[in-house]
Amino acid sequence: MQPINRNCRDSGFSYVREIMSGKHVNGEVRIHGWLHNKRSSGGIHFLLIRDGTGIIQCTMKRDKVEPEIFDLTDRLTLESTVELSGTVKKDPRAPGGFEIQVKELKVIHMAHGDFPIAKKYHGPDFLLDNRHLWIRSQKMQNILRIRAKILEVAREWFRMNEYTEFHAPILITAACEGGSTLFNVKYFDRDAYLTQSWQLYAEAAIASLGKIYTIAPSFRAEKSRTRRHLTEYWHLEVEIPWCDLNGIMKVQEELLTYMLHRLSEEMAGELRTLGRDPEDLRRIEPPFEKITYDEAVDILNRDGINFEWGDDLGWIEEKHLTLKFDSPFFITHYPKEAKAFYHKPDPERPEVTLSADLLAPEGYGEITGGGQRIDDFNVLLKRLEEENLNPEDYKWYLDLRKYGSVPHSGFGLGVERTIAWICKLDHIRDAIAFPRLINRVYP
Ligand code: 4AD
Ligand code: MG
Repeated sequence: MQPINRNCRDSGFSYVREIMSGKHVNGEVRIHGWLHNKRSSGGIHFLLIRDGTGIIQCTMKRDKVEPEIFDLTDRLTLESTVELSGTVKKDPRAPGGFEIQVKELKVIHMAHGDFPIAKKYHGPDFLLDNRHLWIRSQKMQNILRIRAKILEVAREWFRMNEYTEFHAPILITAACEGGSTLFNVKYFDRDAYLTQSWQLYAEAAIASLGKIYTIAPSFRAEKSRTRRHLTEYWHLEVEIPWCDLNGIMKVQEELLTYMLHRLSEEMAGELRTLGRDPEDLRRIEPPFEKITYDEAVDILNRDGINFEWGDDLGWIEEKHLTLKFDSPFFITHYPKEAKAFYHKPDPERPEVTLSADLLAPEGYGEITGGGQRIDDFNVLLKRLEEENLNPEDYKWYLDLRKYGSVPHSGFGLGVERTIAWICKLDHIRDAIAFPRLINRVYP
């Protein structure tokens, strides 16, 4: 029987991360992990062992271990799991500057010898089919750690600023962001949908909890194959009562700046291996630049990209605009017809809305969408009708404008879009462990 507390701090095993920090130099340690890579030369095996906290080189000399152990290690297959013990040495030739000189090794599981991911080029489809194994790669480890840190530091900011976390339902009956991307679900003997955004429920909850946030999955039945659309993505959303368009942009500036600065401090190594200079993130400061939709249209047309006022900015237009910036920037005051029904028309110019998208620079484009919401019952009812939505489906949402309406604003940040920009990824699929795309729900 294996002891059940093998992974606890008092199990007698050390974590690679702590060894790599120099804690155990010249001391004896036991570690357990996966054989990430192996090479042998001149009577020495060089083993790279990965334990979920890091990777360390372990050297095994023929004359320093029992002959059976040396031979067994010779046959050891990639991704086998082992326990080993030895002495920690500082060695500038080892990756990371430390290694373990192995004295004992025990095989827990000898992996099949045909681990599909080899040290050669694999196409994206192959790696997606083998995603359950590919997430062990150094690249995916780095991205997934940065992802976890992004959400950790966002929560830190929300706690410091006294937001309450609120959860909205995933199964819903009224569209928030237009019918074309709704996922239909058979709900016993009626139809329901998967949520596109927590927003409508968040607008109900601000009357109970004040300023709130969530980090939760959203779903879009995106029929297009692009580098920035998932069908299931994680959505960081905020809703705040007594808050206008300027207020909600300020919140985004402060939150994002905090997240980027914390990442540059805590994830500098991981960011560098992905090609992102942490300094790029550290130098970002509020206020962010702001241009209006009208100005964006002028820039596009001036640059020879034909674009009609009233259309929503697409991938091509956003890419063109964002290549002109090296920090995130807002585009504000989108036309009514380019935005969902709930956006508040600008009282001074009702054909545009009090809306703002935040765009990441360097060709990435939209990472947040939001703005001020309609707070008047009749205006909201009229907008629902204009959009051919059935007011019956939005009865409870209309109620919020009957009982204590308040000026309020919010936004939603696409977690994977933000990661893709921060980590300089070519495709959004690598910002999440198991991406869901139009042609992929496996593994
Ligand atoms: O701009 P969107 O559609 O806005 C909303 O859903 C608002 N109700 C949010 C709010 O005000 N609470 O989506 C918000 C963000 C986008 O800016 C984008 O970053 C991300 O969600 N997003 C997607 N990310 C990945 N794949 C998709 N298919 C996405 N669709 C939107
Ligand atoms: Mg949007």
